[in-house]
Amino acid sequence: MGKVARQVVEQAGIDVNVLVDKLVRAAAAEFTTFYYYTILRVNSIGFDGEGLKEIIEDARIEDRNHYEALVPRIYELGGALPRDIRTFADMAACPDAYLPADPRDMKAMLNVLVEAERCAIRVYTDICNMTAGKDHRTYELSLAILNEEVEHESWFSEYLGEGPSGHFRRGAPGASPYVRRFMTADIG
Ligand SMILES: [Fe+2]
Repeated sequence: MGKVARQVVEQAGIDVNVLVDKLVRAAAAEFTTFYYYTILRVNSIGFDGEGLKEIIEDARIEDRNHYEALVPRIYELGGALPRDIRTFADMAACPDAYLPADPRDMKAMLNVLVEAERCAIRVYTDICNMTAGKDHRTYELSLAILNEEVEHESWFSEYLGEGPSGHFRRGAPGASPYVRRFMTADIG
C-alpha cells in the first residue's frame, strides 16, 4: 500500500475505511455489470436488438475498464478485494442487471440498462463529493468514470426515446476516452 498516500487522505479529513468500502462496492458493481451486460448483449438480436448491440458492448467493456482502473487505488489506500468472489458480488453497489423475463422485449432490456447506468452515476457522484478537494487521485479517477457513466445513460435514454444524447459513437468498442489514462495494464 501507499503509506503516505493513505495518510494524506486521512489528514484531509476522510474516513479511509469508509472510502475503501465505497470503492470496493463500486468495483463489485462494475464487475457484476460486466457479467450481466454480456448476457444482455448476447440477447440483443433481431430488428429491435441489433442496433442496440454495439452500445451495450461499449458500456460492457468500459465497465470492465472501470473495474480495472479502481483496483489499484483500493490497494494503494490499504484496502483489498474480498477473497471469495461470492462475497464480492454480494457487495455490489448496484442491483443485478438481470435479463428481462421476455428476452425479446427490447424496451424491458433498455430499462435494465438505463437503470444500471443511473445507479452508477449516483455511486460515482457520491465518491466525487466525498473526495473533492481532499483525495485528489480518487477524485480524478471517480470523475473520469462518472464522465463515462453519464455518457452511457444518455445513449440508453436516447434509445428509449427520452431525447437526444448529443453523441455519435465510440471509435472502437469500449474505448474509454476518460478512464483510459488510469489503466496501467495494456487494454489492447
Ligand atoms: Fe461503469
